[in-house]
Amino acid sequence: MEKGQNVVIEGHDGTGKSTQIRLLGEKLAYHGIESIVFEEPAGGPISNAIRTIIKNGSLEREAMTDLLLFSASRCELWRRIGKSALKAGKWIVSARNYYSSIAYQGYGLGLDLKEIENITRIATDEQYMNPDYAFLLSLDDEDERARRINRRGILENTDPFESRQSDFQERVRLGYIAIAKDRNIPIISASQPVETISNEIWSYIEPYIK
Ligand code: TYD
Repeated sequence: MEKGQNVVIEGHDGTGKSTQIRLLGEKLAYHGIESIVFEEPAGGPISNAIRTIIKNGSLEREAMTDLLLFSASRCELWRRIGKSALKAGKWIVSARNYYSSIAYQGYGLGLDLKEIENITRIATDEQYMNPDYAFLLSLDDEDERARRINRRGILENTDPFESRQSDFQERVRLGYIAIAKDRNIPIISASQPVETISNEIWSYIEPYIK
């Protein structure tokens, strides 16, 4: 059996990750490849419960607490679901991974980037930390991003990250660009039509599909 591959689609809120992981899962299925598609920090029962705590903006906490909550969710997703899926030859298609913690808790809120990597390594392993494919969806236009998030109705909720001020959002956006450059991750413009983005992602994967 061919080894499963770990694909991560990253990007700021409102860049269209959910749509792209779904489309990629469909493309893989069309080529006879089974995949599991999920969105960190959600995925399994415990991770879903952790996400509910994370999303509750009225529970004030330290950035480090968030990092530990995201890491706990990751630990469960990776050790209980991800690794066995890969072993069974399935692909993982995930919206977000620990790059989100580097972008939000690191660049956004000032936690030490190396410390984030170390904690992630304890919660997961090297395979998780080095996905086979990673893509960054990026939107330069902050107004467009805010419009998209508003359309989803999220700014009406007390989400602790999406509702933060624009200087935080700009640090996260630039953080993502730095993460992509440091790791040679392709940066794909999220302002393009959905199908164009999906085809661009696929163009990196298709050559390796037997
Ligand atoms: P959620 O609604 O689950 O996902 P999304 O916004 O991607 O659809 O929200 C998760 C929020 O948590 C989102 O604003 C990004 C943020 N986040 C971090 O701050 N650090 C992380 O490590 C992860 C995975 C997410």
